[in-house]
Amino acid sequence: GLLIVAIDGPSGTGKSSVSKAVATALGIGYLDTGAMYRALTWWCVDRGIDLHDRSAVAREAQTFPLAMGTDPAAPTVQVGDRDIAAAIRTPSVSAAVSDVATNLGVREQLIRRQRELMARVAAETGGVVAEGRDITTVVAPDATVRILMTASEEARIARRAGELASTAAATRAQVVDRDRRDSAVASFMTAADGVVTVDTSHLDFDGSVKAVLAVVDE
Ligand code: CDP
Repeated sequence: GLLIVAIDGPSGTGKSSVSKAVATALGIGYLDTGAMYRALTWWCVDRGIDLHDRSAVAREAQTFPLAMGTDPAAPTVQVGDRDIAAAIRTPSVSAAVSDVATNLGVREQLIRRQRELMARVAAETGGVVAEGRDITTVVAPDATVRILMTASEEARIARRAGELASTAAATRAQVVDRDRRDSAVASFMTAADGVVTVDTSHLDFDGSVKAVLAVVDE
């Protein structure tokens, strides 16, 4: 059958880089669902749509011309023919994305699009690793393997500060604030029934990849 690997967790756990490496090792596709919320945020800001106009943003979620590249060796994010992979990682998008992600009309549309994409890439490659905040619980509760990646708040802040080349204090404020706002939409801090927790606090990148692959092999 198809191998569906669902991975949830907060920022700074290494979730994205580990998920890509796991998909590459397994020879299957990769879907970054957080990039879809980021892409919609970028799109609405670019078009001058008020992020607090919930029905307008939800309408865009249904129809905006998003194309997710699901090759784990070179994932891409495009709207129309524009590459927005870098644009969706700016601090302004990171600060605004929770406003979009807490919009239930948006979630309904993006979850539908995520399920369609996962089915398509799994049919093409034999499986998919999908990562986000609600994959194990809402998007793909029937996944073959369901994992919650965690790490201590200290470890997560240190990793994010390294990625963003900012100070630990500034990063702490951002990480804690986004965790708090994201907690409104999904309980990604504690594992749901049947979800295996992989704690990466004391694991490096290779160790984290091995730990996830070990769960897949069980
Ligand atoms: O930057 P980080 O890796 O922490 O986040 P991300 O995976 O790029 O996701 C960005 C934002 O999208 C999160 O902070 C959530 O607000 C939202 N998100 C969500 O609501 N549900 C998902 N399945 C994935 C992301």
